[in-house]
Amino acid sequence: MKIAIGADHAGYMLKEELKRWLEEWNISYHDFGTYSPERVDYPDYGIIVARAVAKGGFEKGILICGTGIGMSIVANKVKGIRAALCRDPYEAKLSREHNDANILTLGGRILGFDLAKEIVRVWLNTEFTGGRHKVRIDKISMIEEDEL
Ligand code: RB5
Repeated sequence: MKIAIGADHAGYMLKEELKRWLEEWNISYHDFGTYSPERVDYPDYGIIVARAVAKGGFEKGILICGTGIGMSIVANKVKGIRAALCRDPYEAKLSREHNDANILTLGGRILGFDLAKEIVRVWLNTEFTGGRHKVRIDKISMIEEDEL
């Protein structure tokens, strides 16, 4: 599994921690920035990661800004992306089982590192349930095609 990751300045510190966890779990990743705590605009990083996942080069993506809200708004503009803002492991689990979320967004100013680590661990290790949930995901795809 290869993960695309990105953050703005408010997510930078959590992104650096996230890289350590991914290395600990032997999960490969590409860091699309930002590469310092200097102030930047989250759409510039969110769009790069979302497009990289949508194009199929990465199975999943993780985006971090101050609240996780801006990154989720940006990522969900990209066709094929289902970005989920998760603040606890239960949301992370359901975002995979029910929504087949392919991008996780996190709030670097909201979450402590331990909680964030557990959210990421659960999110990466939970599979999509399919079945009735697949029917709903297909309807989201139809909305993207203007067929619903
Ligand atoms: C940056 O100050 C902040 O607005 C951004 O990180 C994010 O929280 C936006 O949703």
